[in-house]
Amino acid sequence: MSILNIVTFPDSKLREKSKEIEKIDENIKKLVDDMIETMIENKGLGLAAIQVGVPLRLFIIDWRGVGEDGENDHKNHDIKVFINPRILNLEKKFIMENEGCLSLPDLRADIERYYIAEVEAFDLSGKKFKLKGEDILGVAIQHEYEHLEGKLFIDKLSPVKRRFLLKEYKKKRKND
Ligand code: CO
Repeated sequence: MSILNIVTFPDSKLREKSKEIEKIDENIKKLVDDMIETMIENKGLGLAAIQVGVPLRLFIIDWRGVGEDGENDHKNHDIKVFINPRILNLEKKFIMENEGCLSLPDLRADIERYYIAEVEAFDLSGKKFKLKGEDILGVAIQHEYEHLEGKLFIDKLSPVKRRFLLKEYKKKRKND
């Protein structure tokens, strides 16, 4: 396994629409292994293939890596792999505080999301499954799915708020 470079905003790659995976072969399995290692190393809750520069419809979510306070406890992992996912249902709108993304380091913002997201996808063995995510896991499904469409969570902010946060983001990135 190896740790991959994460594509960061404003790289235009993040705006690409990802393509369906036609065959789950050794390359895909290797990619998933590397994505898992990369996500854990960077203390992420989810990661989409496009974030490591691969425009394929695939993302992973650490299903158990969330403590009671909603923060990733980074101790227990239950990595779910979603291949060619489809959102089946979204329910109950609520406000999620402090959403972040490995492709926008150190930028966090309150984003309005649905409370429950139900998704259908294929796992690494090619088996179709359905899964319902609530609260932060529902948010994670919506967030990762949007990566496949070339969307980012900052797109949901008001133009004023976005301009402000991106100015800060660029300033910080320049100093790093
Ligand atoms: Co993200």
